[in-house]
Amino acid sequence: MEVIIQPTYKKLAAVAAKIIRDALLKKTNLVLGLATGSTPIGVYEALVGMHKTEGLDFSEVTTFNLDEYVGIPPNHPYSYHTFMETHLFSAINIPAENCHIPQSTAVGHAEFCERYEAAILDAGGIDIQVLGIGKDGHIGFNEPSSSLGSRTRIKTLTRSTLEANAPHFGSTIDDVPKMAITMGVGTIMDAKQCLLLASGESKAVAIANAVEGPITAEVPASVLQMHPQTVVIIDEAAASELKRVDYYKQVYANKQELLSKDD
Ligand code: F6R
Repeated sequence: MEVIIQPTYKKLAAVAAKIIRDALLKKTNLVLGLATGSTPIGVYEALVGMHKTEGLDFSEVTTFNLDEYVGIPPNHPYSYHTFMETHLFSAINIPAENCHIPQSTAVGHAEFCERYEAAILDAGGIDIQVLGIGKDGHIGFNEPSSSLGSRTRIKTLTRSTLEANAPHFGSTIDDVPKMAITMGVGTIMDAKQCLLLASGESKAVAIANAVEGPITAEVPASVLQMHPQTVVIIDEAAASELKRVDYYKQVYANKQELLSKDD
């Protein structure tokens, strides 16, 4: 795992956006796995900025979102469909038919989940998967105890996740959808590269468990230790419980020095 620690949220978002831009410049039909939530918003803002100022072209890009709540319509103000439209899709030149988000109102969820997996394969697999992390170590909506080999399916959300999302839906956790369709941990692990993003002290324990703890279904993000190409991009606050901060910073500085000599 490569761990990149940046002084601020803005800088971590810029590092992640640059990785995506560099990949897109090399492969115009890039397949992106996307996350919602507060963490990736700065990355999407930076990508929109690159589209507007540099003409970064998304016309051949395909996207697959990690998850969507079950039982709310796509046009609900807090659906992940609305989130993606607001923060990214409406501001770049990506064709609507290239954007895939789980359809949680569809009848026949099991068949839908199979089709979602098949569509990812048909697109050639995910090149870069953007991930946030829950305080309980979830990725996508794969809550603690999720099978580390799981595929796209319906999951029941934990109390911790319901509480984190309650401010969007109303005053209490009773207002939050109880279930979501999510890519599985195994689906995420099939991506060629994963970018795990985290900002703020509230994520510090989850990041320490994911990066330096044992690999366990109790912390689904910890399985990324087994992924050959995961980059963890975090700010100082999210790094505050890590034991090897100095080493990660040294590794990153050395890499930057090597890259600058290649230029
Ligand atoms: C959202 C998702 C979740 C979030 C996680 C962190 O698509 O998959 O795993 O990434 O709950 O959410 P934020 O970024 O809001 O702290």
